[in-house]
Amino acid sequence: MDWRTTSQTDSPLFGRLDGIQSVLDPHSPQAEAILSLGNWIFAGGTLIFIMVMSLLAFAILSRRRHTPLRSTTFIAILGFVFPAVTLGVLMVFTIIVSLRISEAPGEDALRIHVTGHMWWWEVVYEGPDGQPVETANELHLPQGRPVVITVTTSDVIHSFWIPGLAGKIDMVPGHVNTVSFTPTKRGLMRGQCAEFCGAQHAKMAFYAVVEPQERFEEWLARQASPAREPIVDLHEAGRTAFLEQGCGSCHAVRGLPGAEGEIGPDLTHVGSRLSLGAGWLDGSVGNLAGWIASAQHIKPGNRMPSFDRMDGPTLRALAAWLESLE
Ligand code: CUA
Repeated sequence: MDWRTTSQTDSPLFGRLDGIQSVLDPHSPQAEAILSLGNWIFAGGTLIFIMVMSLLAFAILSRRRHTPLRSTTFIAILGFVFPAVTLGVLMVFTIIVSLRISEAPGEDALRIHVTGHMWWWEVVYEGPDGQPVETANELHLPQGRPVVITVTTSDVIHSFWIPGLAGKIDMVPGHVNTVSFTPTKRGLMRGQCAEFCGAQHAKMAFYAVVEPQERFEEWLARQASPAREPIVDLHEAGRTAFLEQGCGSCHAVRGLPGAEGEIGPDLTHVGSRLSLGAGWLDGSVGNLAGWIASAQHIKPGNRMPSFDRMDGPTLRALAAWLESLE
């Protein structure tokens, strides 16, 4: 898909990086500050490593018993002054960067609340009319506007991390943490749970799309609207299957009576999402059908059962109806 190639870089050190989940491709001043701090610490560490190795080589190769290494000035400089200066500079730089990335954003900041679940992300925006708008496993962010994300969890500890935009922030039971940043560069980025949270920790990912303000507003207005009415018989059959199979006891589809579940992701606009299974499969009607039939095979231990006894026509109708919910 073309959205995967929005920001690609080649690196002589690491080969081809597709850039969508990389601290080396920052899309916000906060991520840039973290990257420059990382680079300075890497440079400082390299300098100290080279010095220690040189002295070690000198000590091994030197045959003389009374070497200058015994002089107190030498020991004072290399054993105290040098590490104190190096670590002192890095500490000051770290404090400056920490203050810069934790600056309080203004009143106009976009506020989003994200709740971690085993193993997916519940995302709540404030809608155009002030009502909460729920979606899942995908963030849309307007370019240039500060954003404040509050995070918590419904079960175990997770960690919310979009390497291209900000540092990690833990999602702790009974506690709300906050991370803020300003996405300044457009593009698609992948986020990943950064705290081991059980069997499917590795498959707890999501996508963040940084787009122009108007596109973001269109997206949010669409997400805030109730699910689209089915327009053809196939969709009618899909909607019936959704209710008959009991999907609505775990998933909500706003505007559809009988679909008010809160255990799994809200599916009101699932057809508009880039991925399925929390950043694991591309969002397509085929993958949707595969996920419904084989969720336990694709992501063992997750709370979505495999509906592997559903007959073909019902499965196709259900997937087609869900895909039509854009
Ligand atoms: Cu959630 Cu690791």
